[in-house]
This record gives sequence, structure tokens and C-alpha cells, in this order.
Amino acid sequence: MKLENPSVHAATLEHFWMPFTANRQFKAAPRLLARAEGMFYWTPEGREVLDGTAGLWCVNAGHSRKPIVEAVQRQAATMDYAPPFNMGHPLAFEAATAVARVAPVGMERVFFTNSGSESADTAIKMAMAYHRARGEPSRRIIIGRERGYHGVNIGGTTVGGIPGNRKAFPAMMAGVDHIRSTHDLARNAFSKGQPAHGAEFADELERLIAFHDPSNIAAVIVEPMAGSAGVLIPPKGYLDKLAATCRKHGILLIFDEVITGFGRLGTPFAAHYFNITPDLLTCAKAINNAAIPMGAVIAKNEIYDTITNAAPEGAIEFLHGYTYSAHPMACSALLATQKLYVDEQLFARAQAMAPKFEAALHSLRDARHVIDIRNLGIVGGIELEPRAGAVGRRGLEAHIRCFEAGVLVRSTGDILALSPPLIIEDAHIERIVETIRTALAGLE
Ligand SMILES: Cc1ncc(COP(=O)(O)O)c(C=O)c1O
Repeated sequence: MKLENPSVHAATLEHFWMPFTANRQFKAAPRLLARAEGMFYWTPEGREVLDGTAGLWCVNAGHSRKPIVEAVQRQAATMDYAPPFNMGHPLAFEAATAVARVAPVGMERVFFTNSGSESADTAIKMAMAYHRARGEPSRRIIIGRERGYHGVNIGGTTVGGIPGNRKAFPAMMAGVDHIRSTHDLARNAFSKGQPAHGAEFADELERLIAFHDPSNIAAVIVEPMAGSAGVLIPPKGYLDKLAATCRKHGILLIFDEVITGFGRLGTPFAAHYFNITPDLLTCAKAINNAAIPMGAVIAKNEIYDTITNAAPEGAIEFLHGYTYSAHPMACSALLATQKLYVDEQLFARAQAMAPKFEAALHSLRDARHVIDIRNLGIVGGIELEPRAGAVGRRGLEAHIRCFEAGVLVRSTGDILALSPPLIIEDAHIERIVETIRTALAGLE
């Protein structure tokens, strides 16, 4: 075998198989980013792009923040890597403590992963391990929700509820069911904050529990606010009902807070925003401002204690983990990020900016093609009327037009999603909204 492939020469666009991307379309007209600072990206040609999405819902403190950059640089030069299995390094414990400090009360055990996807699959395994440890190993079914997104690993894909993501990979994990999504355009269009209608959608959980029998159900997993499927805000009272039903039947509630974690709603977690403590909470992204890949599962102390105490003395209690769990550089970025959140009071800032963000977003109500606007904290969703016979096309074209006009917005189908860094200022909000208005006006 040749050691170097003679058909591969200079760097081209062809070799990178891009994730969740229309590869052929992108490579015909690439949109590249080369530099970032604060609220902005710059293209390789030096064109400024205002970041309306915090990268991918993740750069909550703004880009290339100096304290984070310096912490990672220092750590890279001090110790690049340390094995996390039956070994440790001090930053891992400090990082877990920093996360526990902002976690809901009673949820103080932190398991590190490298992504939201790994966090979802880890939480699913924890739920099963917990029931096994307490003597109910038959509790294995996991209930997700239609239009839910829990990443792309086997568990997350299967409990996820986005049909396109599941279609090519049917029934990968046995024992999964779904409740309906909370989306109800007919009754809730243009709601500001939590919609008034739809708490009763949580009642479907009782039906599924009766169908499968509680003795077989391990957990319910939902995003408290569904992001990736198009910013679906939970109706008032819905999550309380879901939590009460889980509690009543001894079923664990997993909140997937990969998007909502670390200030997006103006509180550390959505759990605080909705005043509901789940049993397991998954997070990633803004945990360390996305500077180095990292995720985590935060567990109720009782779950950790139950799993740990069920194992014989000296045995590994939970046979799960990643080579890069608590990677030193990711931990250094986490500690610098969490300090920045506190020093700059960024969660409180998000809370203070949320009403302005809401008002600006809803001023697009009369913009061309708009059929709904949704918002919560510093998250916005603008739903466009799909073009006949070409669902998703108008959303993608709006995304491209905004990018060409210097603003990054995300399109998911025909929904534009906004989630700018929490350092956003009034002028940025105005520019985002006006760019979207102009882009939609020129769009067929
Ligand atoms: C709610 C939720 N869960 C899980 C994930 C997957 O995270 P990752 O892409 O880091 O694997 C995402 C990603 O956007 C997400 O929004």
C-alpha cells in the first residue's frame, strides 16, 4: 500500500465530508468563516458577518474571548492530556465543581462527555443503570418526543423525533416511544414567550405509560425548549404536568439542555427558568463556550449514590466513559468560561436583553412570508410559509441571503432560528432584524 495517496494534491473542498450539510450545493458555492471575535465572524476575504446564532447555539460569551483563549493556551503548554479512567487530574474536579455550583439544587454529580450526542446516550445508559441498581431492571423503555433532537448517536437518534434524521436508521435501539410535539401553530401563532395553549399535550404521556406499563419505563427525555427542530416553546403548564406524571410513576425525567444550558434563557439552566428539577440533565456547547469539544450529564445525587453503592467495593460502578472525558484543555476552557459568565453577569444580561429581543423579533410579524414568530430568553424562531413543492427551500435561501448581507442566521427547514451570543447589544439586534426583513422582502 502506498503511504501517500498520489491522487490527493493541494487542499480542496472535496475531501471533507461535511456534517449535516448539502455537500454538493455547499461545495458549488461555499460559505466559509476564517476568524471570529466578540459578536462577529469574518470570511477568508475579510467580510464581516454578525453572528446571530452564537456559532451553533454555543458561543454564549462571544467569540475568542481572551480569558478562555489564554486558559487553553496555558493548559496546552502545561499538560496536553491525562487518562480519565482510574486516574484523574485536578482540573477535572474543579470543572465538575464549577458545573455543580450552577446546577439545580440536589443535582451535583457531573459526568463529562465530548458532545451533546454523547451526553444524551450517557444519560440514557445512566437511567437504565439506575433502575437496574435499585432492583427494577425491566425499566428499559425510553420515551422521547416528536420533533425532539438529542444528537446523532444510536440512543439520541432513536429517541429523537425528527423524521428525516431517523428515516435511514430505523429501530436502532429497542424499546423507544414518543409523545407528540408541543407545536400548535393554529392556536399559538405569534405567542410571545410561552404559548397559552397545549398543556394538555402532556396527558399523552399517561396513555403511553399505561400502554407500556410503568414497570417497563426507565425515563422520559425532552428538551425543555426544543431548539433544533425549529424553536418550539413549551406551552404554559406543560412541563409541570410532564414532571408530575414522571414522578407519579417512578420514571426519570431527563432534560436535554444542550441548547438551553448556561444562560440562554437568562438562567443557568431551563430547569431554573421553569422551576422544575429533572433527574438527569444533559448539556454541552456553552459549557465552555464551545472552545474545545465538551459535554456533561448532571445527575441527581441520589442517582449517583444508587448506582455507586450497588457495585461491590473496589469495582467500577458505571462501565461507561470516553478517552476524552474531562480533557484538560476542555476543562481549562470550562473554568475560564464559567468565571466569565459570573464576572460579566452574562445570564442576568440575557434576562435583561430578552424583552428587547422579543420586541424586535415580533416587529417582523408583517414581513414577507412570515407565518409565526416564537421567542424565549435569547432564542427566536421565525417560521416562513413553505414554498409549494419545495419545503425548506425558502428557509435555506433566506439563510444564504442574510449571510451575503453580513448576518448569520440558522435555517432549519423553513424556520429561521436565532440564538446570538449573550453579549449582544441593541444595535446588533436591530441589524439582525433589518437584515432578515430585507432578505425576506426580496425572496420568492
Ligand atoms: C438539544 C440537543 N441535544 C443534543 C445535541 C447534540 O449535540 P452535539 O452536536 O454536540 O453532539 C444538540 C445539538 O444541537 C441539541 O440541540
